Amino acid sequence: MATRSRACSAFPKRKASSTAWVSTTPASTKLLENVRRAEFPKKGGILGINIGKNATTPIEKAADDYLICLDKVYNDASYVAVNISSPNTKNLRELQKDEALDDLLSQLKAKQLQLADQHGKYVPMALKIAPDLDDEQITAIADALRRHRFDGVIATNTTLSREAVEGLPNAAETGGLSGKPVFAKSTAVQKKLSIALAGELPIIGVGGIMGGEDAAEKIRAGASLVQFYSGFIYRGPDLVSEVAETLANVLSRKNS
Ligand SMILES: Cc1cc2nc3c(=O)[nH]c(=O)nc-3n(C[C@H](O)[C@H](O)[C@H](O)COP(=O)(O)O)c2cc1C
Repeated sequence: MATRSRACSAFPKRKASSTAWVSTTPASTKLLENVRRAEFPKKGGILGINIGKNATTPIEKAADDYLICLDKVYNDASYVAVNISSPNTKNLRELQKDEALDDLLSQLKAKQLQLADQHGKYVPMALKIAPDLDDEQITAIADALRRHRFDGVIATNTTLSREAVEGLPNAAETGGLSGKPVFAKSTAVQKKLSIALAGELPIIGVGGIMGGEDAAEKIRAGASLVQFYSGFIYRGPDLVSEVAETLANVLSRKNS
């Protein structure tokens, strides 16, 4: 939750985009003004608010930023996404590792329970992870999520890999790559996570959904819900109805 300047590259041929964020100053007040004005949850919408550390905060002090953000957004969010996987904030992904993750999740859980008491409502938290993780890291994250009774997990953020855009103009630029090229990597991580979690926590599948079939594949790989971002850029809002229709068909076939 910070005001950010951005550098963005597009790869239209591969239905992808890559973005680098630079966090500068806190913008949580403005964000809350906007979400309150929109009254989205009051109109029946489910509003997830994504929190992260500021670029200037040293990684050892990252938990402080997350706790401040959770406190600020708690009452206005339907759920909170805890982003420890943006590749554009220096060292952020270090928080996905062992003790750093354990410490962050433990502090967030304690704060969530305190805020639930204070506001008289429980707002779920979902951890957002990267697609650039090996099997051991995925298992360790799944264990930590269980241990700290997290409410869900969002798999995945953008990738640092350029394998899928090799040889294209701008491929050498830094930043997180999203869209079609991240689909396979992100779905593979999601699938392993789903096996490791054995249904104990819901997974939100995200990464490279450009059509209804992509969303169906995320569900088949163990997701309970799906999100898309780059798909809006390349397909526009029609993608929402296409995904909803495809998933309704998949579910009705499953239940018949
Ligand atoms: C322009 C842009 C900005 C993003 N900003 C954030 C962010 O602030 N926090 C976050 O957790 N993920 C962020 N993401 C990652 C997306 O939410 C999503 O996880 C990723 O792009 C993969 O999904 P997609 O292929 O549907 O875009 C951003 C992605 C893009 C392309």
